[in-house]
Amino acid sequence: MIEQAKALLRGAKRPLALAGAGLSAESGIPTFRNSGGLWKEKKAEDLATPDGFRRDPQMVWEWYAHRRDQVRECKPNPGHTALVELERLRPEFWLLTQNVDGLSRTAGATRVLELHGSLWVFKCFTCPYSRQDLQVPTLLNNQCPVCKTGLLRPGVVWFHEPLDPWIVSRSQELVTACDLLLVVGTSAQVYPAAGFVPLAMQAGAKIIEINPEDTPMSKYATLTIRQPVGKALPEMLAGLI
Ligand code: OAD
Repeated sequence: MIEQAKALLRGAKRPLALAGAGLSAESGIPTFRNSGGLWKEKKAEDLATPDGFRRDPQMVWEWYAHRRDQVRECKPNPGHTALVELERLRPEFWLLTQNVDGLSRTAGATRVLELHGSLWVFKCFTCPYSRQDLQVPTLLNNQCPVCKTGLLRPGVVWFHEPLDPWIVSRSQELVTACDLLLVVGTSAQVYPAAGFVPLAMQAGAKIIEINPEDTPMSKYATLTIRQPVGKALPEMLAGLI
């Protein structure tokens, strides 16, 4: 499988990767839907919806502060590093990530779109104010410095919220133009990201899925590699020029 994947990668001029929580799993960051995953232990409706924030902003801030503390303890793993290497080797490569941990950027990725926002951004609940801050203090019940009425909130996309329209349209352009899509460490259940897989296939791209488990998008894959990404990706890239 790895040899076949290598051959596909060697022939690809415009490879693209779509990543999910599995990419950061080997860094020690919990996924969402596996056993022990964040949505198995916590309620997404309380922690990742606008209504949950309206009900209890302090609880939401505390949970995201805890997640930021968790990420601060973690380092990028060989999966992140391999994608940075692919960016270096293929000038048209882009990474579309659903991860909000910023570890791909920490690893050195620059051609990356963060579909679901970032733990390191905060923004106003009501006006367009948004600011990146790697320290992100715990701003419990702090008011927006611009509109003075809205509460500041984590800069991640929650359930029932649209993604940034510019990021969606740029992602769709990349997906329809790519010739190889690596689907890496995502359960491929959350849209619009999951929909990028059939979209790429319909546009003629080959698909390689790297995930120890089957997903609803496995049926579109030209190749499925049932291994952890931190093992599979570096092997696929070995010797690639
Ligand atoms: P999930 O938790 O739904 O899926 C993680 C996937 O990673 C599963 O299919 C695992 O089998 C796989 N996996 C685990 N360890 C792996 C490893 N070492 N190598 C490769 N694969 C591995 O996470 P996502 O698909 O990212 O959204 O979930 C999508 C979105 O749902 C998240 O961005 C988040 C969540 O609600 C928001 O917070 C907006």
